[in-house]
Amino acid sequence: MSAAVARGSRLVPPAVAAVVVVVVVCLAGSARGAFHRQLSVELNPGSLNPPGGDLLHVRAVGANDTLHYLFSSQGAPALLLLHTDSASSAIKVNWTQFLARNTSGGLWVEPESSLLFSSALVFSRLLEYDDVNDTAEPTSQFFPPYDLQNFTWSRLNLSDSAPNALLCGGVAQGSLCLQLAVFGEEGRGQAWPRLLHSADSSQLEVRLDNVPPRSPRSRFLLELQEVGGASRLSRVDVRRSIDDEFTPSIFKVSQWVSLSNGSSDVLGFVQWKPVAYRRSRPVLEDATPCRHSEPVPGSGDSVASSSMLIRAFFAAPRSAGLNVSFGLAGEPFYNSTGFLSWTLLVGVGSPPVDAFSPLVIGIMAAGLGTPVVLLLLGGAYVCVRRRGGANAGPAYEPIN
Ligand SMILES: *[C@@H]1O[C@H](CO)[C@@H](O)[C@H](O)[C@H]1NC(C)=O
Ligand SMILES: *[C@@H]1O[C@H](CO)[C@@H](O)[C@H](O)[C@H]1NC(C)=O
Ligand SMILES: *[C@@H]1O[C@H](CO)[C@@H](O)[C@H](O)[C@H]1NC(C)=O
Ligand SMILES: *[C@@H]1O[C@H](CO)[C@@H](O)[C@H](O)[C@H]1NC(C)=O
Ligand SMILES: *[C@@H]1O[C@H](CO)[C@@H](O)[C@H](O)[C@H]1NC(C)=O
Ligand SMILES: *[C@@H]1O[C@H](CO)[C@@H](O)[C@H](O)[C@H]1NC(C)=O
Ligand SMILES: *[C@@H]1O[C@H](CO)[C@@H](O)[C@H](O)[C@H]1NC(C)=O
Ligand SMILES: *[C@@H]1O[C@H](CO)[C@@H](O)[C@H](O)[C@H]1NC(C)=O
Ligand SMILES: *[C@@H]1O[C@H](CO)[C@@H](O)[C@H](O)[C@H]1NC(C)=O
Repeated sequence: MSAAVARGSRLVPPAVAAVVVVVVVCLAGSARGAFHRQLSVELNPGSLNPPGGDLLHVRAVGANDTLHYLFSSQGAPALLLLHTDSASSAIKVNWTQFLARNTSGGLWVEPESSLLFSSALVFSRLLEYDDVNDTAEPTSQFFPPYDLQNFTWSRLNLSDSAPNALLCGGVAQGSLCLQLAVFGEEGRGQAWPRLLHSADSSQLEVRLDNVPPRSPRSRFLLELQEVGGASRLSRVDVRRSIDDEFTPSIFKVSQWVSLSNGSSDVLGFVQWKPVAYRRSRPVLEDATPCRHSEPVPGSGDSVASSSMLIRAFFAAPRSAGLNVSFGLAGEPFYNSTGFLSWTLLVGVGSPPVDAFSPLVIGIMAAGLGTPVVLLLLGGAYVCVRRRGGANAGPAYEPIN
């Protein structure tokens, strides 16, 4: 029986499969589209204007859970994600403790038992090297790094309409900016790389604008630290991406996942496409590939001392860090345009997976389907004739 089913399914022609896929994708899309989180934004909860930087809190409330996004410029920029199993969990801040930056416990979630998962991403350093031989191998020739905890960050510039915040820090006459967007439903970014997001994720765009390169052949790296509690493992998976309709010429997606120790459950993720853009309004030629190093365990304590948010929330932080480097050998150097932008998604659960878009399915159905349908019709015709002949055979036999 099962063999028959298997054989039957193998015989399903691609055109029918394509139609089935379209229907499934549409149904899945509408089912996921129905999932919605209620977003609310609060700046510096419980304090008017804390010295040293801002703390943004975005609540994303679901049917019976809440995601709390905390974005802070107190020290190195950090995004902390807390997932609770309650629709009424709250964030509490003790500003005396938070600003003292020497103990944890300055920020917590109530009720504490509702916490399911916590994870943070810290932007620790911007590194620059002189790529004298155009190898794009960041091995030597490093200039002194920009330590982002020592930057003077602007106040957070909040958008009126969407939960969207812009944070900038000066690098000589230029700037390094982080644009945060939190999402309440599934969708796709407006600008390249047009990452697909879910209601359980937020997006950060990093922009390096007009930073005076210290060499004409300078290239940059960005160092990131992922912070979590104990018994966590983290690794970067590189997957093939099937659809480059939204990110032309890029067929891969990298995802830095947090796994609970001893299981393969993905608790949280940082996802990006290995591409940066050399202009703020890019055309295809402005895309530049980027690479990442393997995550290495770091000193949770040094990350905590670089960001007050990390210090305040985690009692015993564990961290893993990696570098993202922009540009390959032969690619233009930073001073060709004096601009770089790179986008990443941060969320809980499994990272979103690009499905074939209706346009691609349409093209496949038209391209593959038409000849297949013709073949099938032809085959069916031959079959019917054969069968007709075979039936006719025995029918005539008695007469012979
Ligand atoms: C959350 O609510 C949904 C239905 O709204 C239910 O299916 C699910 O089991 C609930 N989850 C928890 C953890 O209670
Ligand atoms: C905040 O923390 C300080 C130092 O631990 C403590 O003295 C103070 O009572 C706390 N404030 C509140 C409102 O809990
Ligand atoms: C933290 O710093 C504050 C003031 O700077 C001090 O009063 C307090 O004792 C310190 N706490 C610890 C645990 O070092
Ligand atoms: C660049 O190339 C020259 C000549 O091959 C070599 O001597 C030098 O060490 C290279 N520099 C770096 C930074 O690799
Ligand atoms: C940044 O500040 C920290 C703490 O004040 C200090 O230890 C570190 O050396 C500074 N980094 C740079 C590059 O100045
Ligand atoms: C805040 O952002 C808006 C839109 O991005 C911009 O027009 C405005 O000048 C910014 N305000 C400040 C103070 O940077
Ligand atoms: C994961 O679990 C194993 C055995 O249970 C333990 O030896 C290891 O230290 C754990 N790793 C982490 C990161 O907690
Ligand atoms: C990033 O690159 C710099 C320069 O090679 C290196 O010192 C640093 O350890 C790297 N950071 C991580 C987290 O791998
Ligand atoms: C890059 O820098 C070098 C040296 O400062 C300069 O000669 C060159 O014109 C710059 N390139 C661009 C595109 O600005």
